[in-house]
Amino acid sequence: MPHPYVLLSAAVSLDGCLDDTGPERLLLSGPEDFDRVDEVRAASDAILIGAGTLRADDPRLVVRSTARRAERAAAGRPEFPLKVLVTGSGELDPGAGFWRTGGPKAVYTTDGGAPRAQAALRGLKDADVVPVGPELDWRAVLEHLHAAYRVRRLMVEGGGSVHTQLLRLGLADELQLAVAPLLVGDPAAPRLFGPGGYPPGRLRLEETRPVGDVVLARYRPVAPGAGPAASAADRYWLGLACDLARECPPSRTAFSVGAVVVAEDGTELARGHSREGGDPVVHAEEAALARIDRADPRLPTATVYSSLEPCARRASRPAPCARLILAAGVRRVVTAWREPDTFVPGADGSGVLAAGGVDVVLLPEFQDRATAPNLHLLGGSV
Ligand SMILES: NC(=O)c1ccc[n+]([C@@H]2O[C@H](COP(=O)([O-])OP(=O)(O)OC[C@H]3O[C@@H](n4cnc5c(N)ncnc54)[C@H](OP(=O)(O)O)[C@@H]3O)[C@@H](O)[C@H]2O)c1
Ligand SMILES: [Zn+2]
Repeated sequence: MPHPYVLLSAAVSLDGCLDDTGPERLLLSGPEDFDRVDEVRAASDAILIGAGTLRADDPRLVVRSTARRAERAAAGRPEFPLKVLVTGSGELDPGAGFWRTGGPKAVYTTDGGAPRAQAALRGLKDADVVPVGPELDWRAVLEHLHAAYRVRRLMVEGGGSVHTQLLRLGLADELQLAVAPLLVGDPAAPRLFGPGGYPPGRLRLEETRPVGDVVLARYRPVAPGAGPAASAADRYWLGLACDLARECPPSRTAFSVGAVVVAEDGTELARGHSREGGDPVVHAEEAALARIDRADPRLPTATVYSSLEPCARRASRPAPCARLILAAGVRRVVTAWREPDTFVPGADGSGVLAAGGVDVVLLPEFQDRATAPNLHLLGGSV
């Protein structure tokens, strides 16, 4: 049964704490990072927290930016992501602001907790209570979110107990940590990750970026069981896109990228590569999509394979490739490599696509093939 893409997001002190033990919520991030989190929220279909975080912080979990909400609505998505809560006890305060803000709510609980949760939330129209068995089975929660609410991208905003379980079970696809320059120092303060049996091995560091005075670090757990499964066909077509990247005329000012658009039944619809046909600025996805009739009924179920994540901003044309893909109605992208900061710092083509309802699958095992024709541009940044 399919699961959503699961992104764990947390702000953490230098000594690994999520909060202190005072009555007020400890502010770890600054305004720039709150805005970054808002962007990640806007790109998500749902945001999940544990009942401990509800009790401690009563977060609203809304997309604050009106522009981002408008963009979601324009893409045919609900203005706010679904708000998801997990509770074993079902002991919930119906007076919390959580229930009165943002999008609809889904409460996952145990068979034992369900009657209490239902009693607490009686009278709230947009809160579903979903029991998932005698124990809270995380796989069942993720499957239900995917099937019943069409959640494809789930952001998890804590607390530590929830993050710890998802990482331990190999159910997290990405970890985004905002590391704040302060020390909490209190042994009783809640920690991001508790002790326990995690999948072995190192996480893969995908990105680091200063955001105000915090450092964003993005990791991908690469242990067995983590990550969306890719099919043999995905590997074949992404391999072809990486081969096409080698055919690009050389450049010192732009990446060499290959792209293929493939219908659901495996028919190749078009291919392209950077700077092809004597056009010094054309991008691979743009060149491939230009070859396909906009009315082709296979586009909504097609996949774009691109050796590099489709661009989010570009100077050379009005529309970046992520927008062209959205405009073409394609709903799935498979790529080998997230765009580094070489030309466009902070570009997030995957975020733009995800905000428009596109499933983005990253196959990092192809990254070496995708970067090979670009090594002269990278200066050791990969
Ligand atoms: N810095 C940050 O980014 C950040 C983000 C979020 C939270 N926080 C902090 O984290 C602290 C809260 O963390 P936390 O670990 O105590 O709480 P939590 O992870 O938010 O919630 C734990 C609760 O979730 C429910 N739960 C989780 N897993 C379950 C399972 N397998 N079965 C049944 N129920 C389950 C239980 O609810 P019941 O008790 O109802 O059974 C459990 O007590 C707060 O201090 C908050 O400020 C910080
Ligand atoms: Zn592009």
